[in-house]
Amino acid sequence: MYASFRSIGAYVPENVLTNADLEKMVDTSDEWIVQRTGIHERRIASDEETTSDMAVKAAKLAIERSGISKEEIDLIVCATISPDYFNMPSTAAIIGDKLDIRNVAAFDISAACTGFIYVLNIAKAFIESGMKKNVLIIGAEKMSAITDFTDRTTCILFGDGAGAAIISATDKKEDAIIDVHMSADGGYADFLMTPNGGTGNPHMSEVGGEAGCFIKMRGNETFKLAVRTLTSDVEKILKKNNITSEDIKFFVPHQANYRIIHAVGKALDMNNDKVVLTVGKYGNTSGASIPMAINDIYESGRLKHGDIMLLDAFGGGLTWGSALVPFAGK
Ligand code: UT7
Repeated sequence: MYASFRSIGAYVPENVLTNADLEKMVDTSDEWIVQRTGIHERRIASDEETTSDMAVKAAKLAIERSGISKEEIDLIVCATISPDYFNMPSTAAIIGDKLDIRNVAAFDISAACTGFIYVLNIAKAFIESGMKKNVLIIGAEKMSAITDFTDRTTCILFGDGAGAAIISATDKKEDAIIDVHMSADGGYADFLMTPNGGTGNPHMSEVGGEAGCFIKMRGNETFKLAVRTLTSDVEKILKKNNITSEDIKFFVPHQANYRIIHAVGKALDMNNDKVVLTVGKYGNTSGASIPMAINDIYESGRLKHGDIMLLDAFGGGLTWGSALVPFAGK
């Protein structure tokens, strides 16, 4: 059996936070944000809206578009660093409850912005081993809940949203997910982290109390490492599978920063019209950004059955990964 990418869905909250809004909150400017990141605005969930609420809306669309019934789903895996509850229960279990999918394994994974590539590979492995047939994978984030809106170096970057996909078993080789790479190096853990609240610093003394539960990032160093690592990782996956940039219909990178995307796209000789960009309107939605971007090309009617997508991502951990995925939906 092969694993196929059968459908996609996404959801974004209604509330828009513009660069002009941020100018009133911290010492920044629309010009600086656009020039350094490509971001114009991002969506912010309401106080009542949780990560699982957004995930459920994305998942319902993905299930509907897959043509399978929710009773056929036999595993739920959610990538998130902004779960409904930090220790338990898992957001995946809550999503299962809200979708009324019961007695099915459900768990979260923590791989930050690379999360969707990790859950994609987990689904692929479960299906290829014959253990599962239809896996609901999700990337969902309420980044606004772990962002310090007094820190101009991070609060201009992040947004909220969710994306979901159904990965299904198939005997059609042409629909099979071609390859997924995932990697990590914990030696760079302090490049991107939420220092307080876990067992590493349970008393919240390290970085002044609650503020230490928010994202801290060594932005410029992360930026440079991201460009280098992503370029070489993507070159490797293309070479290993004997695929060239010309065979790729859509390059769907994690939407962290327009400049990272542009630098990697250029190094890969990727035509601009193949590069999917949503960072301008949604900002960085961490593990949700790739499925949200895939949904964008699906809903605009550009993504067709058989189109090969190249995915890549880089984030906290540090983690990174890439994937070669033909779209197997309608
Ligand atoms: O998604 C997971 C992976 N994440 C990433 O890959 C993000 C990687 N990093 C980035 O995207 C970029 O590093 C940033 C957009 C975060 C920052 O851009 P940069 O070009 O690396 O700027 P910088 O951090 O080197 O800062 C340059 C200057 C500094 O001022 P001085 O020291 O030169 O006087 C900052 O204090 O810009 C200042 N600055 C700001 N100015 C206006 C930092 N943030 C802001 C701001 N508005 N919001």
